[in-house]
Amino acid sequence: MPVNAQPAVFPPAGDALAVPSAARLRGTPALPGDKSISHRALLLALLAEGESRISAAGDGEDVRSTAAIAAALGARVERVSAGPGRVDYRVTSPGGQALVEPDHVLDCGNSGTTTRLLAGVLAGRDLFAILDGDASLRRRPMSRVTEPLTAMGAAFAGRRQGSLLPLAVTGRRRLSPLTYTTPVPSAQVKSAILLAALAADGETRVTEALATRDHTERMLRARGIAVLESTSPDGVHEVRLTGPSIPAAIDETVPSDPSGAAFWLVAASIHPDAELRLAAVSTNPTRRAIIDILRRMGASIEEHELPPPGGADGEPLADLVVRSSDLRAVDLSPVDVAAAIDEIPILALAAARAAGTSRFRGAGELRHKESDRIAGIVDGLTALGARVRVEGDDIEIQGGSRLRGGVTETHDDHRLAMTFAIAGLIAEGETIVRRPGSAAISYPGFFTELEGVRA
Ligand code: S3P
Repeated sequence: MPVNAQPAVFPPAGDALAVPSAARLRGTPALPGDKSISHRALLLALLAEGESRISAAGDGEDVRSTAAIAAALGARVERVSAGPGRVDYRVTSPGGQALVEPDHVLDCGNSGTTTRLLAGVLAGRDLFAILDGDASLRRRPMSRVTEPLTAMGAAFAGRRQGSLLPLAVTGRRRLSPLTYTTPVPSAQVKSAILLAALAADGETRVTEALATRDHTERMLRARGIAVLESTSPDGVHEVRLTGPSIPAAIDETVPSDPSGAAFWLVAASIHPDAELRLAAVSTNPTRRAIIDILRRMGASIEEHELPPPGGADGEPLADLVVRSSDLRAVDLSPVDVAAAIDEIPILALAAARAAGTSRFRGAGELRHKESDRIAGIVDGLTALGARVRVEGDDIEIQGGSRLRGGVTETHDDHRLAMTFAIAGLIAEGETIVRRPGSAAISYPGFFTELEGVRA
């Protein structure tokens, strides 16, 4: 079946969803394949000549955007089979040196990862392309990737000095290597530079103040590319890659997305009668902050390690069991916040139910996500009766509130939609989640699972 032949699964009909509270939570909610890994698997399959199989990839709208773009750039991208939240792809590519110049604008939809990683891929290809996306994506900052990629020799044009979509890219077959320190910890920026470094003559070095998610490094290594890493005692992380280099075509199975699992970890932790099981979740050290932070808050999470697929560079995996617990407040440093950046909305809900006052420090990056997530968290949780305050880039949440039903606005942001729906499971009365369909961006089937866990 060609890509994008089917709509993403289950955006609930209508403009708003009413979520009543649940008496008990039990079950094993099906999780989507990891979104970060799925994007990278598709783009690396595009750069590799020949056939790559990607099993159990995430089937959310963001990953579908990447799949459709890989097809527009000359790969044959087939959906071999699909299950809840997952799809198996077979990608047959002419290889990175033989990509097709697309004859239409490449639509990145809502996906910042697609846009920024693709900018890195296209920088080192001898072609012209235009990237565009939805209203949310057109507001998000792109200079964080266009600046270093321009220094490597690619050319970008877009609104506000190439900072906003739509963005025109003129790539070059050979780039200059770069030594670069990222201004904000960002796996997307690091990955864009590493993908461009595949087309650079010589060694590229990226330094980041803390190690952000390392899927690109692991996945390049699994495809035969030497990626060297070092971390200094103060946590500064450096990655080095020498180009030019071509990734090999391999087969890969995508683990369950810890950022999707996060909703159930919090749901069960804050619900008085809950036990949920989560299968084959990535416990990669750069992604597992949600588990460790919830444990610091007193959560009961069992972790049953599984053998990692794909050898030493594969993702560490575990089955998780989470049960009801009495959470206490937590003080998150800027490093904690960066490590759990996608889980901050659902952690804010956990904090609203925990005993004591929680602080999330240095959360400014949340203003640049699919929506201004600081504003969205404050407004949504306040509507449900929580006490939340913002001071500069810090969020302060007074715990112990008895949440009551209310009307929450998602701003078409998937992580806010799922956070407020989970709040509905424990709030008294009925929680209204306005415009909930964006959940399908990362977690198609989320609302089916939400019904399924109501024991
Ligand atoms: C991602 C990196 C993070 C994260 C995003 C996915 C990735 O963004 O928020 O959802 O796959 O590299 P930043 O790199 O901008 O922090």
